[in-house]
Amino acid sequence: MLDISLVRSTLASHYDLTPSPELAASMSDIYDRMDRVVSPPDWAIYAPYVKAINELKKKRNAVILGHNYMTPEIFHGVSDFVGDSLQLAIKATEVEADVIVQAGVHFMAETSKILSPDKIVLMPDMAAGCSLAESITAEGVEEMRAKYPGAPVVSYVNTTAEVKAASDICCTSSNAVQIVNAMEAETVIMTPDQYLAQNVANEADKNVVYWPGSCIVHEQYTAQDLRDFREWNPGTRLIAHPEYTPEVVAEADLSGSTSGILKYVTDEKPEKAMLFTECSMASNIADNLPEVDFVGPCNMCPYMKRITLEKILYVLHTMEGQVEVDAEVAEKARHSVQTMIDLSKKLGL
Ligand code: 13P
Ligand code: SF4
Repeated sequence: MLDISLVRSTLASHYDLTPSPELAASMSDIYDRMDRVVSPPDWAIYAPYVKAINELKKKRNAVILGHNYMTPEIFHGVSDFVGDSLQLAIKATEVEADVIVQAGVHFMAETSKILSPDKIVLMPDMAAGCSLAESITAEGVEEMRAKYPGAPVVSYVNTTAEVKAASDICCTSSNAVQIVNAMEAETVIMTPDQYLAQNVANEADKNVVYWPGSCIVHEQYTAQDLRDFREWNPGTRLIAHPEYTPEVVAEADLSGSTSGILKYVTDEKPEKAMLFTECSMASNIADNLPEVDFVGPCNMCPYMKRITLEKILYVLHTMEGQVEVDAEVAEKARHSVQTMIDLSKKLGL
């Protein structure tokens, strides 16, 4: 468990992290990317961290891979590459740095380490887990195989390395339908997200059976809630992540992965949009889309929100928080992730 007082005292003795409106003003090129959602006083607090992290990245030959659910000061201030789970997994195979800092949750850092075993992968807070990844173990995968003999196992990337290793292939929310359809068998096992699996089943040509896991962020609303949101703010486009129930997805105007959501609002530029996904998603895209009014809701992922500028600076400074994956597990897991990446590229996704 990360000792936050140790983090603070270590940083205080090496960096001047006093809020500074002057420094903030001198970094206006970075602030311009987020000034619709981050206030000037908050930017004065973040600026010393952003400066220290960006300098340290050069010294360590490090890159930061930031998921779309990071807060704006991480997403716009220090991330070298941003994107959804699939985009970040692909980026991990391409970057030439010695060090990857994963600004996201633990399974994403593990995925980067699996794909880049020779790089140092740093996790700013090891306790940044995921309710989906925690819902299934490798034994659970074997249980499903015993129940549905011969059916291939497609596991969401939101899983541990052991579960990936026990699976035939991985998928993300942006390629799940195509990956399932590409399986030769008639029945396909999906783990661990029951709702993603049901949404895939509605679109794919396969008989999809699934593990009963769920995401605590995306199971919060019902279809009735969406109807109430529509009534509360008429004319708003409702866009839901496929980790929501099929009823919510059916009620929404569109469903997509975080990159699918970004593409939709960028292409369509609706006057008003409600994103049914993690809260920071809308904040991160708001500055580039001044025409769109992003109206609530705002559900935070408590795991994603464990990642802060302070913790990123600390792991880059100390090189603590290195992610390790057992070599044998990593080799099998790499096969599942790489097969997904290769298939996605072949399918033009
Ligand atoms: P995507 O970015 O792949 O849509 O995943 C969403 C998610 O919940 C990751 O934790
Ligand atoms: Fe896991 Fe849900 Fe958080 Fe994504 S939003 S990391 S799926 S708990």
